[in-house]
Amino acid sequence: MTSEWLSKRLLELSRLDVYIKPPIHDRVIKMDANENLALAPQFLNDIVSKAVSASDLRFYPAEELERFYEQLSQYLNVNRKHIAVSSGSDQIIESLLSTIGKRTNVTIFEPTFSYFINRCKLHGIPIESIPLNETDNSIPYSRFMNSAKKSNIVYICSPNNPTGNQFDRETMLDIVESLNDQLIIIDEAYVEFGKYSLSQFVTKYDNLVVLRTMSKAFGLAGARIGYLISQENLAEIFRTQIQSPYPINSLSLAVATSALSSYQYFFDTIQLIRQQRDKLFLSLSKIQGIKPFRSDANFVFFESFDLYDSIQEGLSHELISIKALGDFCRYRGCFRVTVGTEEMNDRFIGSIGNILSKDG
Ligand SMILES: Cc1ncc(COP(=O)(O)O)c(C=O)c1O
Repeated sequence: MTSEWLSKRLLELSRLDVYIKPPIHDRVIKMDANENLALAPQFLNDIVSKAVSASDLRFYPAEELERFYEQLSQYLNVNRKHIAVSSGSDQIIESLLSTIGKRTNVTIFEPTFSYFINRCKLHGIPIESIPLNETDNSIPYSRFMNSAKKSNIVYICSPNNPTGNQFDRETMLDIVESLNDQLIIIDEAYVEFGKYSLSQFVTKYDNLVVLRTMSKAFGLAGARIGYLISQENLAEIFRTQIQSPYPINSLSLAVATSALSSYQYFFDTIQLIRQQRDKLFLSLSKIQGIKPFRSDANFVFFESFDLYDSIQEGLSHELISIKALGDFCRYRGCFRVTVGTEEMNDRFIGSIGNILSKDG
């Protein structure tokens, strides 16, 4: 029989919100998890095959880790002392909250990356959520500052998931500069698709931690590689005290090192995705009853109001999977669709057209 205190604790945990993973289906066009779908699978397969033949899995991944740090430092143009790696940036969020985040409170914008909120709840960290400005999803500066000044940690996703926009750079720098008693976590998971990164500013601001990932622009979601960039002391403590000694396996490290050394190829696909994103936004904005928002990421967020149910049902018949978010804050009938190849995007827009013509 399970003891009473353990049953009670498990019951509390079972009531927490969970991160909803996209469903697994056969033959589905997958536009629900912001992966990089424009990368040629063969290109990645070649990198992976080379990584497999170069790795000796009898050994712990010490050398591979060193090589990855070197390559990352070159890619970011930041001294490696400012970098700490992890198994996906999800794991950095978890590790930061369970250590530095203990007995703190947090300010975030709403909506934002739901996993961060779930993890705060798991660790009993109180959150103050400030809704973004209604017109353009920008930062409500004074409301935000009033709350942020009273908290220990601020989390900002830039570009923001799910709204897709990147906040004004000068406002972001002002926040980092003014809130010098707060730890400012900037989640730049989608930054390669955006306009600017704040990673260079870690040498100037000790309160800044930038989170990055290889899951999006580099198309390596399955390899689970993330990293943080921060002041040297925090990065070192993260690498040595907080992080486990070998956080990423040899194969993933070899793949990631090789991907970074061919970054020009990835940047070409990023350019394609940016063009496709703007085209997708334009196509969605021409459809009556749908309101898309401009995006600086590899996805487009849109409201569909009372068309929500028909779109959701229709797309599942068409075997197209996008992220259905429903109603939240002041947004009605929301979806987030990953920008795919031209063919996928055309198929998606065509399907929406078919669904709505049947509906109307
Ligand atoms: C804003 C944001 N941060 C972090 C992550 C997680 O990235 P990773 O795959 O590196 O854990 C995601 C994934 O969807 C995300 O949207």
